Amino acid sequence: MARSDLLISLVRAGATGDREMLKSTTEALMADERAKNHHILADRLQRALNAVAVTPPTSSTHVSQVGKDTILESQPRQRLEDLILPMPVAQQIRQLVEEQHRADLLRAHGMQPRHRVLLSGPPGNGKTSVAEAIAEALSVQFFTVRYDALVGSFLGETNTRLARLFDYARTVPCVLFFDEFDAIGKERGDSHETGEIKRVVSFLLMQIDQLPSYVVTVAATNHAELLDRAVWRRFQLRLALPQPSRDVLAAFLDRQLEAWPEKAGMSATALATKLGHISFAEAREFCQTVRRRHILSLANMSLRDILREQVELWSTRTAPEETYGPRPGKTASSTEQS
Ligand SMILES: Nc1ncnc2c1ncn2[C@@H]1O[C@H](COP(=O)(O)OP(=O)(O)OP(=O)(O)O)[C@@H](O)[C@H]1O
Ligand SMILES: [Mg+2]
Repeated sequence: MARSDLLISLVRAGATGDREMLKSTTEALMADERAKNHHILADRLQRALNAVAVTPPTSSTHVSQVGKDTILESQPRQRLEDLILPMPVAQQIRQLVEEQHRADLLRAHGMQPRHRVLLSGPPGNGKTSVAEAIAEALSVQFFTVRYDALVGSFLGETNTRLARLFDYARTVPCVLFFDEFDAIGKERGDSHETGEIKRVVSFLLMQIDQLPSYVVTVAATNHAELLDRAVWRRFQLRLALPQPSRDVLAAFLDRQLEAWPEKAGMSATALATKLGHISFAEAREFCQTVRRRHILSLANMSLRDILREQVELWSTRTAPEETYGPRPGKTASSTEQS
């Protein structure tokens, strides 16, 4: 394109809010300037483009509702401070939040804040909670992707719905949460998978790559080992949320016991030892059951007696591996890990 055409195209893109045209025209201008050895101007154009491309549309802009049906929208309530996270995980999340909060400064230097997070770990240890807490810390909407509405029964339909979903997500700053990401981001070398699934995964990854940095993509998986290497590479932050150790569990229980109206008659450490190797979610459920029983007892039983009774009952519960045995093709130890 001649330079005059580029300038006209640039003005048109600005006037109509067409970001694609703005991007491609500016890139053409930059290439033009670089060819003339005008590197300083080309760099300035690049920086200007970085700032423009990531500005979310203002609320007055027409926002497409198409794609909304594949997203569950919620107001985040979970607070980061209320979660017990491994030190490096907490630190990295705080860094992500800071980069998002101070994105303008980064953009002024031609940089973008990090915005792609992969959370892995066994069930009930905070993956969904962390995703929600990031949205809460950023004061943005929390969007959970609905696979049921996303996966079409006809070939090619899923990609169309995915494209709409991403178009919708990029209309506002948000956290876009993909739960059970292994269900879609699985190793593409898997011989059982059809070409269709491979196409969906490739398309999904491309879409994630193209999201502006004000959309924080958080993917969660219980089975990080199933993920394709190309999937891993996409995520700037890869955080493990493991089952709590006994000491960490004790710290968690301590917070719960403190909120009880009566003395528990047992230390948090002793209780953690009795409950064994369990998730935060199970520990919370246990504590809530104690409270439920206490409320229903109408003060006829002390909390300490109820706690003892529930610990007894707890020791008789069945675990998945006892009920079903090791899963086919897995060793006993790998079953415990999953
Ligand atoms: N690290 C944590 N600190 C404090 N509470 C936690 C933590 N992890 C989980 N919980 C409690 O357990 C509940 C369930 O956790 P959450 O849904 O975030 O787990 P998850 O990893 O997403 O599980 P799943 O794999 O089953 O989806 C939370 O609502 C919270 O109350
Ligand atoms: Mg979850």
